[in-house]
Amino acid sequence: MKEYLNNPEIFSINRIEAHSDHKYFAEGKKFKESLNGVWEFSYCDSPYWSAITVPGHMELQDYGKPQYVNTMYPWDGREDLKPGEVPEKINTFGTYKREIKIPKDWKGSPVYISFQGVESALELYCNGEFVGYSEDSFTPAEFDLTPFLKEDKNVITAKVYKWSTGSWLEDQDFWRFSGIFRDVYLYTVPAVHIRDCFLNSELDDSFKNAKLSNKLKLQHTDKKDAKTYMEVSDKNGKLIGKTEAVKTSADEITLELELQNLQLWSAEKPYLYNVTTYILDSETDAIIETVPQKFGFRKFELTDKIMKINGKRIVFKGVNRHEFNCHRGRAVTEEDMLWDIKFLKAYNFNAVRTSHYPNNTRWYELCDEYGLYVIDEANLETHGTWQFMGRPSGEKAIPDNKSEWLGAILDRAKSMFERDKNHSSIVIWSCGNESYGGEDLFKMSEYFRTVDPSRVVHYEGIFWDRRFNGTSDMESRMYAKVSEIEEYLNNNPEKPFLLCEYTHAMGNSNGGLHKYTELEEKYPMYQGGFIWDYIDQGLMKKDPFGNDYLAFGGDFDDRPTDYNFCVNGLVYADRKPSPKMQEVKHLFSDYKISPEINKVTIKNESLFTNVNEYELRWKLLRNGIEILKGRTSADVAPLSQNTINLDIPEQKLSGEYVLEVTLNLKEDTDWADAGHEIAFGQYIYSMEKDREEEVTETVTIIEGDCNIGVYGTGFQVIFSKAYGGLISLKYSDKEFIDSIPLPNFWRASTDNDRGNSMAQRYAQWKIASLYCKAADVTLERFENKAVITYRYNLNTSPAAYCDVIYGVYGDGSIETEIKYPGFAELSQMPAFGMNFRIKKDYDNVRWYGLGPDENYIDRRHGARLGIFETTTEKNLSQYVIPQECGNRTGIRWAEITAGNDTGIKISSEVPFEFSALPYTAHELENAKHHYELPRPYCTSININMVQMGVGGDDSWGAPTHGEYLINSDSPMTFKFKIEPVYK
Ligand code: GAL
Ligand code: MG
Repeated sequence: MKEYLNNPEIFSINRIEAHSDHKYFAEGKKFKESLNGVWEFSYCDSPYWSAITVPGHMELQDYGKPQYVNTMYPWDGREDLKPGEVPEKINTFGTYKREIKIPKDWKGSPVYISFQGVESALELYCNGEFVGYSEDSFTPAEFDLTPFLKEDKNVITAKVYKWSTGSWLEDQDFWRFSGIFRDVYLYTVPAVHIRDCFLNSELDDSFKNAKLSNKLKLQHTDKKDAKTYMEVSDKNGKLIGKTEAVKTSADEITLELELQNLQLWSAEKPYLYNVTTYILDSETDAIIETVPQKFGFRKFELTDKIMKINGKRIVFKGVNRHEFNCHRGRAVTEEDMLWDIKFLKAYNFNAVRTSHYPNNTRWYELCDEYGLYVIDEANLETHGTWQFMGRPSGEKAIPDNKSEWLGAILDRAKSMFERDKNHSSIVIWSCGNESYGGEDLFKMSEYFRTVDPSRVVHYEGIFWDRRFNGTSDMESRMYAKVSEIEEYLNNNPEKPFLLCEYTHAMGNSNGGLHKYTELEEKYPMYQGGFIWDYIDQGLMKKDPFGNDYLAFGGDFDDRPTDYNFCVNGLVYADRKPSPKMQEVKHLFSDYKISPEINKVTIKNESLFTNVNEYELRWKLLRNGIEILKGRTSADVAPLSQNTINLDIPEQKLSGEYVLEVTLNLKEDTDWADAGHEIAFGQYIYSMEKDREEEVTETVTIIEGDCNIGVYGTGFQVIFSKAYGGLISLKYSDKEFIDSIPLPNFWRASTDNDRGNSMAQRYAQWKIASLYCKAADVTLERFENKAVITYRYNLNTSPAAYCDVIYGVYGDGSIETEIKYPGFAELSQMPAFGMNFRIKKDYDNVRWYGLGPDENYIDRRHGARLGIFETTTEKNLSQYVIPQECGNRTGIRWAEITAGNDTGIKISSEVPFEFSALPYTAHELENAKHHYELPRPYCTSININMVQMGVGGDDSWGAPTHGEYLINSDSPMTFKFKIEPVYK
């Protein structure tokens, strides 16, 4: 093995010093040549050369297999290694080769090669000679090729190792890939070149005027001296300031400019100025180089223990984002990034953490332009050296105080800082993730403070090791419970509080998010958080039937693995928003809208935006149907509140009313079209309930030895004494019972349920649901109804029972009641209600209740009351492991129909919960992949008084909060009505 591969102290050889990512131009000359495309490739010394696409991972191009592991190192249990040792038996590598053509007009100029991202170590050769070596997968590796180049033909060879000492610093929770996964290009520079620049602004106290400085590092290849100056123009290109041209032969020079009446940059209003720096020939004044940059004037500071943007307390409504594409892994495209930034803006996020490594440089430009605050995180994670199966232990931790790792981690910090420092969007540098504490990390934090006093430093790891508490400028935690946060904030803390990760979006999750967002108002030192995480890391693969599906750890025969723990996204891996977004969008909105009968109060929590920049729309629904609407505008200054009268005529008719008020975009933006909804609020009130008419039609009752039949015009209902329940319900001669309706207490375990052992705690309710047995049936006869009562014995321990009482009326409607008397000593139950199956053709669902998307008792702030529609197929959320999904709360009525055909309607006086899906809870729960589910053959209907909340504080133990659980020790009664729908 090459010495540098397994020596932590050697992480680069001949690599060019890191520099800012600015672009530069000169008329008539192209300075950059892309080397993206197909390269020749040999995998692990294969004598046969084949092809590989750059950028891309080897493992996603059939060279090796992807492996997913979380904290454990990928070689754990396969090779016995100490920190720093590199696997020998299982290390793989690929050799990339291609000819490079040097443009003719580059003659005489230096030629460099830039690899923007290579995982995990790169050894470069040019024409057979060793050029250099580099680790750190997520920042550029650049080399000077000039001394190696020949006149005619030039070939470069890049040997890329999957594992190196650098891999010990890259134990992020993600797919372990290798290869050249970001752009590769050749570049040259003009005779005098701005090799690096550092833009800084100092705003005065009025936040209007600023001193702009640009510290340039010049490279003179050809000319000793040159002239340089800087110009600033506004968004529309209007010049607002210009420095004198200064003659210089020095390598460093700082240009400065005072500017007045500036528009500031913030995530809300990402105003960018054009800063253009010129290098001129000092004799002829000809332009040698132009460097155009976008720059936002803003001040980020931590004063009075609070982080502020332009003087205002910031609340991060953030998300952790891995770079991911389900086909290409971390080799993300421009299209992916544009999709992501538009999505984040449209869903009210204001911040992103580049978890857990510096991203593609383009991402930062987009954050500058579209407006997102960024925590830029260094590529460092050593989780598997200090936490084993959840337990922390610092003995083997790196980098800790170990001198042999200090160089490498400082290098990673420098590579990130130097590349990214001119992006206005970056407000916080992060030392990395989950790498324990110690002096090395403290030195890294001090490095950031020294080179960049204009930003603050983040590091969560001090929570695990307080020896160097000063490493982080804020108290940053992950997955802290609300009570723990309050405890910190109530005890005279030193630093502001931030959740660098919280509300774990794995599967059906994010319950209780409102409890976190409620802290925003309560505690000024609570500064928000970053949801874990943005996108599912699921990889497109073929299932056993040859169809595409989104695979997770283990599906590539990768072992060891952490299975579906890589799938924690708000957005599915194929970039379709999951239903969890409904909640996040609402709770992350800066505008809290509280309508009342004829007015609306808007609390504007934005820092820089007046509500009058949006259109205010309102509509009035009666029993779910829109009866009136209007548009207006409201003047509500940032950080203030105002009540606006709406001109709505008084309503006299009985019924349930909803006044919905929304704020919508007036005009198209870069990220959404005019009309896009930013925020909504509803007020629900009743004008005296609509009276139900008494049923007068009579029923015919036929009691046989085994069955009780109830008949009236157009309907037939048969109850079985032998089979213990309702066996036939026919409206217009159509059968609606495929399986006997039975009490149900179960739901298909969610990822969170699995994490907190819900099934182990509550399993008897699954048994009770599956094997409940009718013990007794009685019939009571009335003129206009028949009442049939079943007692169901439940195999719980101690044994329990419940009664189901059907009242069949002369109009065909069935009043159903489930009565549970309450039993002490039983665990809580996941749900309380009934389930039955009807034919699969009944797959259209329409309801008046909360929607449009899936919601649960602990995740329904973002849902609104209305009439919505879906199908059973669409209602099956695409969480990679099938699980409970598709629920709606606050249901007044729901109809299940087959196209235009007859159907049934379920309703209740008291809002209930409902879902219709192609599978039963047990079928869902038995499958680990969607392809394991049977072909849809039914519509399974769940009618619940209540289902427990989904939880989401984390997915490895955090239970659903107490107030969203269902206690089984007290009596519960739930009544609903089944009736026909004729279309
Ligand atoms: C955190 C970690 C993330 C991810 C998450 C669980 O501990 O920083 O990278 O592993 O837990 O999904
Ligand atoms: Mg980790």
